[in-house]
Amino acid sequence: MIRNQTIVITGASSGIGRSLLEMLSAKENGNRIIAASRGIGKLTGFGENVILFPCDLSTEDGVDALFQKAEETFEKIDILICNAGAPYYERYDYEDWSRIERIFSLNTFSCMYSYSKYLNHLNGREGRLVFTISAMGEMALPGYALYASTKFAMKGFQQAIRIESPDSLKITCVYPVSTKTNFFEVGGAGHKVEQPFPVQTAEAVAKAIVRGVEKGRKQIYPCPVSLASGVLMNVLPPVRYFYLKSQHRMLLRFLERKKNAEKGA
Ligand SMILES: NC(=O)c1ccc[n+]([C@@H]2O[C@H](COP(=O)([O-])OP(=O)(O)OC[C@H]3O[C@@H](n4cnc5c(N)ncnc54)[C@H](OP(=O)(O)O)[C@@H]3O)[C@@H](O)[C@H]2O)c1
Repeated sequence: MIRNQTIVITGASSGIGRSLLEMLSAKENGNRIIAASRGIGKLTGFGENVILFPCDLSTEDGVDALFQKAEETFEKIDILICNAGAPYYERYDYEDWSRIERIFSLNTFSCMYSYSKYLNHLNGREGRLVFTISAMGEMALPGYALYASTKFAMKGFQQAIRIESPDSLKITCVYPVSTKTNFFEVGGAGHKVEQPFPVQTAEAVAKAIVRGVEKGRKQIYPCPVSLASGVLMNVLPPVRYFYLKSQHRMLLRFLERKKNAEKGA
C-alpha cells in the first residue's frame, strides 16, 4: 500500500478516481490527499487527511488553482494522479471546433499542462506522475474517434517526456479497458451506451494502479487479458476486424436508439 505520501488525485468524485481516493485515504495509510473535480464538494465521509477541492480541470485557471492549493497545503506533492477525463460517444460527422477543443482541453491539454506545472513544482525533487490513459489510447473504437484521439495524444506525449524528464520524476501510465463507472453515461449524454468487452470494475482498476505505483511500474494494464488480446488482434487481423465490426454495430444501435428517443421527445 502507498503510505505517508502527499497525493493529488483529479477526477476523484466518481469511478476510478473515487475508488483510488477511498483506498488511499484509509487512515492507517497515513496519506494526505487533495481530491479534485467539479462536483467533488458533494462527497462526504472522508477524514481530515482529505481536502476536497472543486475545480474545472479543463481550464488553465482550474489547473492553476489546484496547484496553488496543493502548494499551500503540502511542502511537496509526492504523487500526482491525473485521472479526470470524459468521452463523447457519437458518430464523428459534424463541424464543431469548440466541441473538439472541449474534449482535448480536459483529456489532453490539462494533463500536459499539469506535467509542466508538476515539473516546476518539484524543481529536481522526487515525484511520481500517474496518467490514466486508456486502452483506447492504443486502439480506437468506432464511436470514440475524438476520445481515442485525446488518449493517443497522451500516449505519444508520455513517450517523449519519459526521456526528456529528469530521473527524479517517475511516470506511470495506466491503460484501463472498459470500466463500470459514469464514463458511459457521460459519453452517451443521456442515451444508453453498451460497454465494449471486456469490462472491469473501478475497484479492480484502482487496485491495479496502487499495486503498479508501489512497484514503480512505468505502464499499468489493469485488465489481465488486455495485453494478450492486443497481441492477438495484431497477429490475427480477422479477430481485430470482427471485434471492430461488433463495436460498429453497437454504435449503429446507439444511434438508432438516440434517433427514436429524439423522435419521441
Ligand atoms: N470507464 C472506462 O471505461 C475507462 C476506460 C479507460 C480509461 N478511462 C479513463 O479513466 C479516467 C476516469 O474515468 P472514469 O471511468 O472513472 O469516469 P467517471 O466516473 O465519469 O469519472 C470521471 C471523473 O472526472 C471528473 N471530471 C470530468 N470533467 C471534469 C472537469 N472538467 N474538471 C474536473 N474534473 C472533471 C468527474 O468529476 P466531475 O463531474 O465532478 O467534474 C469524475 O470525477 C478518465 O480519464 C477516463 O478517460 C475510463
